[in-house]
Amino acid sequence: MTRIVVVGSINMDLVTVAPRFPAPGETLMGERFLSVHGGKGANQAVAAARLGAQVHMVGAVGDDAFAGPLCEGLASEGIDLAHVARMENCSSGTASITVAGGENEIVVVPGANARLMPSHVAKAQAIIASADAVLVQMEIPLETVEATLRVAHSQHVPVILNPAPAQRLPTEWLQLARYITPNQHELATLLGADPTEDFRELMRHAPCPVVLTRGADGAWFREQDEPRHQRGFDVEAVDTTGAGDTFNAALTVFLPEGLPVAVRKACAAAALSVTRLGARTGMPHRAEVNALLVNHGC
Ligand code: RIB
Repeated sequence: MTRIVVVGSINMDLVTVAPRFPAPGETLMGERFLSVHGGKGANQAVAAARLGAQVHMVGAVGDDAFAGPLCEGLASEGIDLAHVARMENCSSGTASITVAGGENEIVVVPGANARLMPSHVAKAQAIIASADAVLVQMEIPLETVEATLRVAHSQHVPVILNPAPAQRLPTEWLQLARYITPNQHELATLLGADPTEDFRELMRHAPCPVVLTRGADGAWFREQDEPRHQRGFDVEAVDTTGAGDTFNAALTVFLPEGLPVAVRKACAAAALSVTRLGARTGMPHRAEVNALLVNHGC
């Protein structure tokens, strides 16, 4: 069983479904509200667990009413929470999400996630050392992202860095990652480049291998120095929240099968994830991914 450590955020997602996005200053009547468990880190942990990995989460929740249910939700997926800290006098992370026409807009308040420190990563060093891979995103302090990259790299454990939400990062940090998994906009931000530049050129300039996500269009990666496209799988999108998280988890879980296969399976898993409302509701199990691939003759 693949063993994965996820270092990242844990949020409660407050989701409003609306007929369209409101304009600045406009009040709009929504259609539906639900609170569901989210956070890029926690979502990736859940997606990896459903795909069959043994998952250890390094993260933080607050001491509010959301903390207990968020931890129970992760535990019910079989995820090890020994390295999830409970922060005092602190709210858990939240994300206010508006979904309209299958697209989303998200405002994240980090809460306890902002208190996840390099010292928490240091405490998890032993499980990182015994992992097959580490997954980290950027809804936690950048110093903690750096610590994750350094600890995993020093233990020769591959790190997949999902640079979302994107910020410019030092080249040296990026060189510590086995793969970075931005979309086009995130890659430009990460490199301090022009976002209108051809994404294949941006990929060429990156200081480490890039697996670039293109939403419904699938993903791009390099193989023997040649850019390669994996097309997306056609589905009816209800809510794209969590699609990137599913992609990252699947890429990491299936990496031992080789990059082209891992990217194909990641695109299939991400496609399945958008067919239901809520970041985790549509996240598939391994058998569903395999079934989709068989249906598509892959
Ligand atoms: O990637 C989707 C996630 O981003 C949501 O679950 C939300 O919590 C935000 O962190």
